[in-house]
Amino acid sequence: MNQDNKDKFEKVDRLLKTSIFFLAIATLLLVFLIFDPTFSVFERQGENSFAEIDENKIENGIHVKTGLKDAPGLQVVINNCTNCHSAKLVIQNRMNEERWNATIRWMQKTQNLWELGENQKIIVDYLTVNYPVEEKGRRAPLSEVEWYELEQ
Ligand code: HEC
Repeated sequence: MNQDNKDKFEKVDRLLKTSIFFLAIATLLLVFLIFDPTFSVFERQGENSFAEIDENKIENGIHVKTGLKDAPGLQVVINNCTNCHSAKLVIQNRMNEERWNATIRWMQKTQNLWELGENQKIIVDYLTVNYPVEEKGRRAPLSEVEWYELEQ
């Protein structure tokens, strides 16, 4: 092989290698596109992730994640009252202001609940307004009952 042919050969060789290189990249990209057309692998788990949206989702006036009613003070209640136990435990208990303050004092004394400061009033207001004590101690008497004679 003379020098001229050798140069040509090297040129073609380089061209071929470069082509194969790009073809390989294109193939990889194509395979990736087939398996993940939306490039979801690269989506950031940041502010726009679904988990974050669910966290604050309100549906029909109910904060979906905790089941608490959407009303003034909701966020303070979420921040202070759903860390140790489910919000269900809070919702289940219908108390007046005095008993809520006593329950909070009890948790502070025995369950390591922190000082709530001025948030305590916001929380107790939220609870007494949205989950008032039901005054009826017993079920109301039945009305419009159709009585019938027992037959022997
Ligand atoms: C530091 C942890 C902690 C935080 C924060 C907390 N609690 Fe509790 N709470 C407890 C524990 C522990 C219990 C007992 C759970 C049990 O009996 O299973 C409890 C029980 C309760 C009960 C049931 C009491 C009873 O007599 O059965 C209610 C109601 C309650 N918490 C409401 C709240 C409210 C409202 C807040 C927000 C101010 C709150 N909790 C915040 C720890 C906490």
